[in-house]
Amino acid sequence: MIKLAIDLGSSMTKIYRADTNNGVVLAEPSCVAVVGEDEVKAIGKDAKNLIGKTAEFTQIVYPVYEGEIVNMQLAVAMLKEFLSRIAEKPSALKRAQVLFCVPCGISNLSLNNYMNLAEECGLKKVWFVEQPYLAALGSGAVLTEFDPVFCMDIGGGVSNVAVVSGCGILAGISMNVGGNNMDANIISRLSENSKLLVGALTAEKIKNEIGSLSPSALGTMVAEGSSTVTYQPAAVSVQAAELTDCIRVYVNKVVEYTAEVLRTLPAEVAAIVNRNGVQLSGGIMKIPYVPQYIGSKLGIRYRVCEEPQFATVLGGGVLLRDGEELNRFARTID
Ligand SMILES: Nc1ncnc2c1ncn2[C@@H]1O[C@H](COP(=O)(O)OP(=O)(O)OP(=O)(O)O)[C@@H](O)[C@H]1O
Ligand SMILES: [Mg+2]
Repeated sequence: MIKLAIDLGSSMTKIYRADTNNGVVLAEPSCVAVVGEDEVKAIGKDAKNLIGKTAEFTQIVYPVYEGEIVNMQLAVAMLKEFLSRIAEKPSALKRAQVLFCVPCGISNLSLNNYMNLAEECGLKKVWFVEQPYLAALGSGAVLTEFDPVFCMDIGGGVSNVAVVSGCGILAGISMNVGGNNMDANIISRLSENSKLLVGALTAEKIKNEIGSLSPSALGTMVAEGSSTVTYQPAAVSVQAAELTDCIRVYVNKVVEYTAEVLRTLPAEVAAIVNRNGVQLSGGIMKIPYVPQYIGSKLGIRYRVCEEPQFATVLGGGVLLRDGEELNRFARTID
């Protein structure tokens, strides 16, 4: 029987297959290129490559954004396409066990949307588990009642911060802060300082290639776009040090909210967090010195998952392999 963990991230959809040894079987941008009202032109990588390059009537839509299904019809089209790349036969999906990673503290209304999405895609046996449990499990933690785990995940659109244990989420928050804000900030910075307008794809590439919070970040890269003075195609050299602020301001925001979460912890839990530190995941942890920076701001030790972007979906795999635990952590409508 097929067993899948699905993380419909704001930037990237990840699917893990738990009934084989294949691990992560799909990692594709969570977007759809749409022509006119609703004609789907491309999905995933092919759609993302079109960002900023399309003619007037084509738009690129992220149907699941910041953890919410914002466009059901396109979310269904996207997930159906991704599933078709995995399942040998569509009929096999009807019997598949599928776990969806959902944001921390998801509302009943949003959870209901996830249920409808699953149903529309022909999935019958589904579970919904809040992201912090999965990030903890995917990082190799064992969730017991006695040992809470403090996790922080910074993704493309959402950051989740929580202290979780086998008893539940002891304290947690999900906020709409992430890599997309950093990319937008890089666009404004280059436009102000270098008089160059770059597209979203270029901004993301610059962040991922030379972005760093190191005090001595040295990378440089040529950015191409359009001059804001002559309106002609142009290129400028970008220094990593110029980007530090664009990234740090959002990491600081997450750290600020985190401090609020930590303030509410009972003393014994605070003691464990102090002793064990924070477990970091999400694509933004790949930016050099972000983990060190967070650790030093919080004044505790930190650990980063080996593959930070996949921590959540790997945690889904852990639960799917252990049926009993799955029911313990699954979220149902209250
Ligand atoms: N090598 C890299 N270096 C820096 N940043 C990266 C790298 N790879 C991906 N990112 C960034 O990480 C973010 C995506 O992370 P992730 O896949 O964890 O998010 P998501 O799960 O899709 O979204 P969310 O959890 O916010 O809904 C994007 O901003 C992306 O640009
Ligand atoms: Mg994510």
